[in-house]
Amino acid sequence: MSNKVLVCYSSKYGATAKIAVKIAETLRKSSLTVDLMRVEEVNSLLPYRAVILGTAVYMGSWRKGAVSFLKRNKMNLSETPFWIFSSGPTGDRNPSELLNGWKVPKNMKSVIKLIHPKDISVFHGFVDLSKLTLFHRLVFKRTKAPEGDFREWEMIQEWTYRIASQIHDIMGTKSNGLLFSKVFANSYLSH
Ligand SMILES: Cc1cc2nc3c(=O)[nH]c(=O)nc-3n(C[C@H](O)[C@H](O)[C@H](O)COP(=O)(O)O)c2cc1C
Repeated sequence: MSNKVLVCYSSKYGATAKIAVKIAETLRKSSLTVDLMRVEEVNSLLPYRAVILGTAVYMGSWRKGAVSFLKRNKMNLSETPFWIFSSGPTGDRNPSELLNGWKVPKNMKSVIKLIHPKDISVFHGFVDLSKLTLFHRLVFKRTKAPEGDFREWEMIQEWTYRIASQIHDIMGTKSNGLLFSKVFANSYLSH
């Protein structure tokens, strides 16, 4: 079996795509071989030993592309080490608080229960009102959420280093020293 990792994403305005790029770069720095692509470009999961999916959140749901990717691949994903991140809330409070603990849209609960991902993480998002369609601008303004870039790159990197370490454990491979010193430093600092 190959030791490749797939990072795939569904993004409307590019905020989630950029997080996926950061995650792919971080995994590569951790000595992993990574393919990065939009969910629509994924033909098969067979070449991959582990998969990470990222999706933006719109009006309380994951993007359609991510939802159909999950439904289409649910059996394979349930047998593959798999992680999900979403990019959503804007604002200074932590994303879990901003979403009152919400992680999975109602219509995806049974699929997610079947797939049983190793982790689902919610990261802050990025809204640039000037880039939105008129409809999205109107909807977003009604939410009263703030405009701006609230993505926290360090948190994203830490999440990825933890995943890299788990993938190396699964593959029985070793990462470079950078990864282990970083993970050690993070766990040391968080206690
Ligand atoms: C019309 C609209 C609706 C949104 N709805 C939600 C939402 O329900 N929950 C949430 O956390 N973020 C919501 N957001 C914020 C986006 O999820 C955030 O901007 C995300 O980073 C966008 O990612 P993308 O550029 O990859 O599409 C919304 C943004 C817009 C413009």
